[in-house]
Amino acid sequence: MEQKRERFGSRMAVIYAMAGSAIGLGNIWRFPYMVGEHGGAAFILVYILATLVVSLPIFIAEVALGRRSRTGADGAMSKLRPGTRRWNFAGALAIFIPLLISSYYSVIGGWSLEYLGKSITGAFVSTDPENIPGIFDAFISSVWGPLLAHLLFLAACAAVVALGVKAGIEKFSKLCIPVLFVLIVAMCIYSVTLPGASVGVKYLLTPDFSQLTPRSLAFALGQSFFSLSLGMGAIVTYGSYVSGKENIVVSSAGTSISDLLFALLAGMAIMPAVFAAGIEPGAGPGLIFQSVPYIFSSMGAASPVISAVFAVVFFLAVVMAAMTSCISLLEVGVSWLQEKKGLARWKGCLLLFVLCGAVGVLCSLSFGPLSSFKVAGMGIFDLCDWTASNILLLILAFLTTVFVGHVLSRDEVRDEITNHGTANLRIFPLIYFLIKWVAPLFILLIFITNFIL
Ligand code: PHE
Repeated sequence: MEQKRERFGSRMAVIYAMAGSAIGLGNIWRFPYMVGEHGGAAFILVYILATLVVSLPIFIAEVALGRRSRTGADGAMSKLRPGTRRWNFAGALAIFIPLLISSYYSVIGGWSLEYLGKSITGAFVSTDPENIPGIFDAFISSVWGPLLAHLLFLAACAAVVALGVKAGIEKFSKLCIPVLFVLIVAMCIYSVTLPGASVGVKYLLTPDFSQLTPRSLAFALGQSFFSLSLGMGAIVTYGSYVSGKENIVVSSAGTSISDLLFALLAGMAIMPAVFAAGIEPGAGPGLIFQSVPYIFSSMGAASPVISAVFAVVFFLAVVMAAMTSCISLLEVGVSWLQEKKGLARWKGCLLLFVLCGAVGVLCSLSFGPLSSFKVAGMGIFDLCDWTASNILLLILAFLTTVFVGHVLSRDEVRDEITNHGTANLRIFPLIYFLIKWVAPLFILLIFITNFIL
């Protein structure tokens, strides 16, 4: 049953919503520790290059696919090439991947919510810094605390989605994105003025190419996909709400640049803190929950008010960034349930809350009571993350580039990207070449690297 699809209100609304999807835990939580594990500035350079040459063209392809089909990610391809069932698999993936990701993503969202709560009550300032890592380990391995936080986080995201595209998603993103930038810049300033921070700044700014292995190249590209929300249906779905007059290349570039900038700012905010705290930069996902509070705690005695305020600033940024991303993931499923299954928006939100909530419960427990349950050496959380980000997302991104670059005709793609020829786009041949040949080739390369190296 077809309903009239909503539209974003303006170009800035499109950029805010898409940047809301893109800027998330990937920037604050994953990017800094990837930089840490892969040798600093050299990794950042490769990351920037990968974003411009491979990810941005795929981003443009996803927005164009969404807008041309004016339907959710599940049916975009089959709507443009009806009469064959060949693209149903890609459609099914486009529903499954965001649901899987939102299940474990909201577990980390819950952790950030808990840490925001701890910051507000001044918990870090009054704790001995040496206890900070232990507090994190004890929290994530407990049962009820992380579960409640996870469900609360997911419920808040579902509530925004239930309000609708314009009244919920657009309004919330318009509020969050500017605030996020202010918060992270404030945090950067605080962080680089910490004693001992200069080592961290140097680490971020001096490239050491000897540390770059083929594996780190693949990670840079994979991280840039994840960070731009590619291969998960989110951008295709948001693309379907973009007005026919919008210049897709301009809004895609605007989104990618904001995302890149935010990742760099987050790196700047976190790495100096990591070095000032004397923590190993390759410490993994716990980095922001251990190193950053460590700083607040160790500075607490000297300047309790400033430390307490910045703790709130930092974790508020993490929660907001995570929420706008999780919202875009939920929207994929809700749009499908509403359009294809005729479910009211709020009922779709409730259903997804129950589904993702339940899978998330298992992910959360895999840090505690279920930690001994392993598949291929991975706990449930790691298994979900690995399957989604290293396999499924790549398959869907690959199919999307093949569809836009090889199944749709060049004229159709040009027609969509140039708004039926009205937007003057001299770089179209370059964009098309990148979508058609370069992007799929690189996706294949990452896939091979992930499995062979
Ligand atoms: N791009 C988001 C981030 O960087 C994560 C995300 C993944 C959002 C998938 C939407 C879809 O954290």
